[in-house]
Amino acid sequence: MTSLRPFRTLQGRFTVLLSLLILLMMGVLAYWNISRESRLMEEALLREGKALAESFAISCTNTLLYEEIGLVEEGGLLDNFIADLMARKDLNIVYAMLLDPKGNVIAHHKPTEVGALYEDAVTRSALASWHTLVQNPSPAVFDIATPLAISTKRWGTLKIGISTEPLKRELSKLIFRYVLYAGGLVMGLIGAIAFLFGLITKPLKSLSKEMDSLTIREDLITAPPVREDEVGVLQRSFYRMVRRIQEDEKERERMIENLHRTEKMVAIGKLGTGMAHEINNPLGGLLNCLYHFKKGTVPRGKEREYLDLMEEGIRRIQRVVSNLLEYARNPKLEAAPTDLGSLIERSLALLDYPIRKGRIKIEKSLPEDGIVVEVDKDQMGQVLVNVFLNAIQAMPEGGILGVRAEVLAEEVHITISDTGKGISKEVLPRVFDPFFTTKGQEKGTGLGLWLSQGIVERHGGTIHLSSDLGKGSVVRIRLPLRSKTKEV
Ligand SMILES: Nc1ncnc2c1ncn2[C@@H]1O[C@H](COP(=O)(O)OP(=O)(O)OP(=O)(O)O)[C@@H](O)[C@H]1O
Ligand SMILES: [Mg+2]
Repeated sequence: MTSLRPFRTLQGRFTVLLSLLILLMMGVLAYWNISRESRLMEEALLREGKALAESFAISCTNTLLYEEIGLVEEGGLLDNFIADLMARKDLNIVYAMLLDPKGNVIAHHKPTEVGALYEDAVTRSALASWHTLVQNPSPAVFDIATPLAISTKRWGTLKIGISTEPLKRELSKLIFRYVLYAGGLVMGLIGAIAFLFGLITKPLKSLSKEMDSLTIREDLITAPPVREDEVGVLQRSFYRMVRRIQEDEKERERMIENLHRTEKMVAIGKLGTGMAHEINNPLGGLLNCLYHFKKGTVPRGKEREYLDLMEEGIRRIQRVVSNLLEYARNPKLEAAPTDLGSLIERSLALLDYPIRKGRIKIEKSLPEDGIVVEVDKDQMGQVLVNVFLNAIQAMPEGGILGVRAEVLAEEVHITISDTGKGISKEVLPRVFDPFFTTKGQEKGTGLGLWLSQGIVERHGGTIHLSSDLGKGSVVRIRLPLRSKTKEV
């Protein structure tokens, strides 16, 4: 089965995508919630701060009013208020002070500040405001200022600073809790998604395994029971497809068998007619001679000639029969790794006499490191001799016999060319037919190329002849380097 990288699988991709989506959603949700919570917390803090400042402002205003009208002697009352404010534990107050309308410090939690004049922007805005004013001079503090006034009469301003530190602490705790819960939830969801997808893809994986292990020729009886879900539908379609392919395959095999049978019948028919013709011709001559001998009508002095004719006829029949026997006796190949160069050399050596006599020049082109090919060397030698001989016989006036061999894509290509008389277009399609010859009864049986084709095809190769009338012919033989022998 093909193994997939985890992120290439549907399960992997869906898990990653859905997890990212959930993470994004959780992130947006958490951001929205945290900012809302932080706003609420800030509002509560300021509400509390404002309420505190305003309630203290009343006491301070009263004290200042009574002092002005001479009801009370101030005598440290305001300082006490400031000290009370600083002592509050519910709010983290970092400073508290009372200022007169000009900005002079009347009372301060730091006694050394009393008498100082504050003219900063925050103080100026506070002094100018006629209602409680909240300012944020730095991220660490909220400044709350309340006017000490009754109607339009103003004695000064109460200013307190509330630290934002507790707010920040709460916020970080909140974020931490969110991250923890959201993280746990996301992990849980990813696990659940992966598990659910696993439930879907597991049967698909086992179906694919099953598909891989099933060969088309195998019966489907061994197949496991079909499931009832969508995967089952797929499984059933797959089995139906396999059955269709099996039926098609059987049909194809039947057709090939029929074709082979027809081809064989045609070949046998051709061979039979050829043989009858090849044997009948010399037999006719023989019977004719015998008739004359029996009747005593052989012309005087011609006895010897008649006997020679009879011998020639018998030898011809013998040649035809022995050629066919040779072919019939060797249907099996004994293929073994063979050096093609030496096989060519040996075949040429057998034809040494006709080569020299015919003034034929040999031109060879073979790779330097040689070619080893798996063939039956006797039978392939026979093929080479047949083809070389045809080339030699096609060049009665002499010429060039070329032999080239090369390896191309696990095949050896042997090209044998001659500069002989060539073959006409009418004759060319018949050269591989048994008993087809243009050389006359005495010289050729017409079996050379037919036998050669049979041998080459049994090696799993092909033989092809092309020709240019008057210029020469080329025979191309292709053989697999490693034997793929087959019955032909
Ligand atoms: N190289 C060639 N040049 C020209 N014609 C050829 C060549 N090779 C084959 N032929 C033609 O193909 C015919 C059939 O060849 P094949 O080898 O089968 O029989 P043959 O040579 O006639 O007889 P045998 O091989 O029995 O001696 C030949 O008679 C010839 O006409
Ligand atoms: Mg021949």
